[in-house]
Amino acid sequence: MTSDTALKIVIVGHVDHGKSTLVGRMLHETNSLPDGKVETLREVCDRRGMPFEWAFVMDALQAERDQGITIDTAHIPFRSALRPYVIIDAPGHKEFLKNMITGAASADAAVLVIDALDGVQEQSRRHGYLLHLLGLRQLAVVVNKMDAVDYSESRFGEVCAQIRAYLLSIGVTPTQIIPVAARDGDNLLVPSANMPWYQGPTVIETLDGFKPQASAFELPLRFPVQDVFKFDHRRIIAGRIESGRLKVGDRLLFSPSGKTARVSSIEAWNRPAPTIVAVAGQSIGITLDEQIFIERGQIASLEDAAPIGTECFRARLFWLGRVPMQQGQRYKLKLATAEHIVTVEKIERIIDVSDLATADGVVVERNAVAEVLLRARSKVALDAFVDNPRTGRFVLVDNYDIVGGGVISLDGLAARNCAAHQANDDLSPVAHQITLEDRWRSNRHRGGVLWLTGLSGAGKSTISMELERRLFHKGYQVFVLDGDNLRRGLCADLGFSAEDRAENIRRVGEVAHLFAQAGMIVITAFISPYQSDRDRARSIAPALFHEVYIKASLEECLKRDPKGLYAKAQQGGIAQFTGVSAPYEAPVQPELVVDTAQLSIDESVDLVLRYIERDMQKADATPATIAPDVAL
Ligand code: ADX
Repeated sequence: MTSDTALKIVIVGHVDHGKSTLVGRMLHETNSLPDGKVETLREVCDRRGMPFEWAFVMDALQAERDQGITIDTAHIPFRSALRPYVIIDAPGHKEFLKNMITGAASADAAVLVIDALDGVQEQSRRHGYLLHLLGLRQLAVVVNKMDAVDYSESRFGEVCAQIRAYLLSIGVTPTQIIPVAARDGDNLLVPSANMPWYQGPTVIETLDGFKPQASAFELPLRFPVQDVFKFDHRRIIAGRIESGRLKVGDRLLFSPSGKTARVSSIEAWNRPAPTIVAVAGQSIGITLDEQIFIERGQIASLEDAAPIGTECFRARLFWLGRVPMQQGQRYKLKLATAEHIVTVEKIERIIDVSDLATADGVVVERNAVAEVLLRARSKVALDAFVDNPRTGRFVLVDNYDIVGGGVISLDGLAARNCAAHQANDDLSPVAHQITLEDRWRSNRHRGGVLWLTGLSGAGKSTISMELERRLFHKGYQVFVLDGDNLRRGLCADLGFSAEDRAENIRRVGEVAHLFAQAGMIVITAFISPYQSDRDRARSIAPALFHEVYIKASLEECLKRDPKGLYAKAQQGGIAQFTGVSAPYEAPVQPELVVDTAQLSIDESVDLVLRYIERDMQKADATPATIAPDVAL
């Protein structure tokens, strides 16, 4: 089946490895060059007494472009028997990188050229790294200049192994690796007689096997809410459908809130007849069958194909700000119609645009590309750029100026989509026959979660264990969940990256909630450095949750250093150590603050004990059925 949509391919690889030769010869083989071009060039070469090279075709095109004649070498068209192609060939250029990285332009597939003699060199590594940056899933690797290694199958095998190992290290899987002699056209269009041992597809066959990116219509529905208008009794939710389609009767899921409702009507502008279906690109208003709270920034989708909801995600971005980007700095992120404040949690890599060299650092200068980990204060609804470009790209704003643009990657993150915990039709919760009140009555006290948060060395574990001892002797059902303990079992698979900590706290939040449901008092002692993680733990059962800030300054904790970990971290012996090389966000509105720099351990425990005996009774959960004498 032939197609009319051009497939966009980007060619990367070191110039000396024969990129221009490959392109020049491909253009020739596919009859895509202007008539007489090759003949003219051959004549010029003859006159000057130099051998003809295919790369001259590119040089000639380049020269003509510089004079404003013929085609733009940044976008070289050609066709196979199957379909048209456009080669985007300027990976060294700043504009190219800017457009690709910010998602303003995108390619469908890539070709990486490697010299069979040289193999994978530093230069090819740098160019190969582009593939990772571009996040392309379709890749043809061309092992060029096979003529220079006598078409040796074993040399090809060696280079293949090198390439695979390198690509694997940057998370890229090649679709096909093809031995080629571009100069003579071997394995470009037709199988080479010089390499009968190679049975795989030729370059053009490989390219013809690639798929164009799905069009906006084919992707899952994404309808970011722009505004909510009130007309008489109706509320109209307005926005532009970025991808997919929606119809009257569809049940929509709004992310990240997780609320759902059905579409009652579609109010398309300038259309007299009632609209039943609306598709990508249309600006519409809809009404819903239920009055759920919806605001600008939410993204509507169908329930079974929802965007991801996450506080933490990776991004590749192009920095445009005059002021360099700094690790730890906050910026405003704009994604579709949503705005969020995000912190640059970590700058994982910085790429110099001029030579593609990568470096570590905590500051990104203007015009550099960086891979970063961003963290928002609450869930952001988003997609990985490779899954949906429209909800997978964003800009960063600082003081009303756009300072960066980038695309989202969820590599290595345990991201879950917004519907995951909302709509699993195959689960039906089973009700207990004993109520929480029954348990409290039997225990003769109420239960709940006392969530202790603070720096390492602030006193969380010490206070918890003493509190547990005292409560136990007073007859309470009580148990402590402690960070160092749980990390040996339930959370033994987790480290201290932002996402691992989020998962650690998620698990602890769930377990603590179960203890509370069992009627007990559970005391948790975790650094839990992020407010958003603590808020999520609170959200499971807000009425049973009590955030206790065990407060001690970093200077104080450094002085105490009970486990010697601060000293070790300061010498670089522990990565991402809270307070030293990872952040701690003090609680915004804790139920209780215990300042351990001012109070002794006994005084601290007394304070929490008094809170438990007095303030927990005020919680909303106080059931009317509980007699005052048995309350906590
Ligand atoms: S949390 O950040 O995910 O809440 P958690 O409370 O479970 O951390 O674990 C903290 C304990 O792990 C510390 O008391 C310390 O003993 C140990 N630890 C090891 N590495 C680190 C680190 N990089 N940052 C903080 N604590 C660490």
